Amino acid sequence: MSDHVRARDLAERAADLDGADPLAPVRHRFALDDSVYLDGNSLGALSLGVLPRLADVVTHEWGQLRIRSWEESDWWTAPERIGDRIAPLIGAAPGQVVVADSTSVNLFKALVAAVRMVPEDRTEILVDAATFPTDGYIAGSAARLTGRTVRPVPAGEIAAAAGPRTAVALVNHVDYRTGRLHDLPGTTAALHAAGALAVWDLCHSAGALPVALDADGVDLAVGCTYKYLNGGPGAPAYLYVRRELQPRFDSPLPGWNSHADPFGMDPAYVPAEGAVRGRVGTPEILSMLALDAALDAWHGVSVPEVRAKSLRLTDFFLECVDALVPAGRVASVTPVPHAERGSQVSLRCADAGEVMPALVVRGVVGDFRRPDVLRFGFTPLYTRYTDAWRAARALADVLADLNEGNP
Ligand SMILES: Cc1ncc(COP(=O)(O)O)c(C=O)c1O
Repeated sequence: MSDHVRARDLAERAADLDGADPLAPVRHRFALDDSVYLDGNSLGALSLGVLPRLADVVTHEWGQLRIRSWEESDWWTAPERIGDRIAPLIGAAPGQVVVADSTSVNLFKALVAAVRMVPEDRTEILVDAATFPTDGYIAGSAARLTGRTVRPVPAGEIAAAAGPRTAVALVNHVDYRTGRLHDLPGTTAALHAAGALAVWDLCHSAGALPVALDADGVDLAVGCTYKYLNGGPGAPAYLYVRRELQPRFDSPLPGWNSHADPFGMDPAYVPAEGAVRGRVGTPEILSMLALDAALDAWHGVSVPEVRAKSLRLTDFFLECVDALVPAGRVASVTPVPHAERGSQVSLRCADAGEVMPALVVRGVVGDFRRPDVLRFGFTPLYTRYTDAWRAARALADVLADLNEGNP
């Protein structure tokens, strides 16, 4: 088959797949143009409900009601209320998720609180060796503060590495660089069998694939909301604390918002019951309510359907790359088996640093992770099969140009 015929065939298949996609109408809930946006694993697109909601929050709730909005507009309870909206997306029953702070800050709360729940002779914190850097930095600080040590272990070996000295392990559900999906149920079970606790970072999985925190017995989890949950730049993150552990959750940042009676202005700290314990200070209301509005895009969307589309999209993109890009020019570092794949495809490419800017000029936006990785994120709520095909075709064109010395 000639290259031309092959490309036409893929284009037709992409159009057919889009035509049959049950999630296709959901794309209209977002502000998107005709460029190919494959960076929703870094910053999700703007959900159309955010603009009118924020306009109302600013003009009415803040502008007119002013301080009354803490009660009358339910600002005060927003962290738990919005946490309960995220809960079904991560397999959590209500009352266990609070929206607050950044992922990094929640990691700190989760790790220190976890270490405080286990006996002192459990001296080690295991950390996924390929972790997103902030997790490692925070784990290092949590270890110093609690008199423990950090041991980096490849995520796939944490289950085997856990032992009587393990206090807690911090694992990324999906590796941000490769898109590898780690075994959350198996690793959590192995940690528990070793008497240790499991903290999961869900930044690259929540909103892209099913997560079953309650069913899988996860102890604590954190995640951001600006990727697949489309909460907006710098949107607050969330913290999950398993219900049975909440009475033992001793926060290292016991701010007044987590007090049992915050307006009692009691000099003595008495923690609130429940997920509220994960709060620290005054919630970031504007970005929190932008997230609240963004979550409306999930109305009627089934997470298994999202997962099915994510796998079809990434399979199709890999097939297009295979068909269109000259052999040996890029190599996928994203696992082929579905059980090991998140919702992105990462291609190793020697000149990735030149390739990605050239793709962006052609209207295909992914990102570049040093030294040599091209990352393409697939957000099933709005990515089209046609986008996957166009991205692969643009990649082939850019690589051909670079080979010919035309940047
Ligand atoms: C896996 C992972 N963990 C943590 C973070 C950092 O999150 P934050 O900037 O909200 O602290 C990121 C950011 O992209 C991430 O991808």
